[in-house]
Amino acid sequence: MRKKLIVGNWKMNGSLQANAALLEQLRNGYDPARAELAVCASAPYLAQLQSLLAGSGIDWGAQDVSAHEPGAYTGEVSAEMLRDFACRYVIVGHSERRQYHGESDDVVAAKAQRALSAGITPIVCVGETWRDREAGRTEFVVKRQLSAVIHTVGHCTSEIVVAYEPVWAIGTGQTATPEQAQAVHAVLRAQLRAATAHADRNRILYGGSMNPANAAALLAQPDVDGGLIGSASLDAGQFLSIVAACPWVAQ
Ligand code: PGA
Repeated sequence: MRKKLIVGNWKMNGSLQANAALLEQLRNGYDPARAELAVCASAPYLAQLQSLLAGSGIDWGAQDVSAHEPGAYTGEVSAEMLRDFACRYVIVGHSERRQYHGESDDVVAAKAQRALSAGITPIVCVGETWRDREAGRTEFVVKRQLSAVIHTVGHCTSEIVVAYEPVWAIGTGQTATPEQAQAVHAVLRAQLRAATAHADRNRILYGGSMNPANAAALLAQPDVDGGLIGSASLDAGQFLSIVAACPWVAQ
């Protein structure tokens, strides 16, 4: 079993003061033996993460990256800039970016590629809407989203993290059952296996209303390698409880 990876997605939340308090609690309460831990914040706070998390064993990352190389792209943040702030991860293709900012599969794939070329691990989000699920299109949708990335990043496929986030479960309090999550994760794992001989290295996270009450059952599934946590990551107690819910893995 792979050691679990728990990633907080703060979304467009936080302030210098609130972040400092939250990070202090995480530093004090984090047990590295249990799981790997990371937080992904908005770009203006990356310097704060770098200074407050250095040496803590907790990694940090961004929530988006430009699909372009540095140049005349006002308002964009390049992968090289994220590297300047020692980001280990960047979330790409979150459903909120796909939905509110029109990001296509190709744009998401280009972002994943830019991250990898700067030495940053992309956390590639895939997930179906409720309408897709009702129409029996879950597998088709998540495979299409992942295949765009695999096609673009090629031999680097084993270096990506995938996050399965059913759109209907994000921020709704409605979670996929452990069986629903495992079924989709198994599909994604098979797709990764077909693309790389090293798919056992890929971590596939579940995201969508994961909380201390449902985390243990989700994280016990064989292909659920961790969680991408939104609202529960803004509360140190809840976030650390999710870490504590990770099954023990002998090193
Ligand atoms: P949620 O968000 O945990 O608040 O549902 C998860 C995510 O969007 O990454």
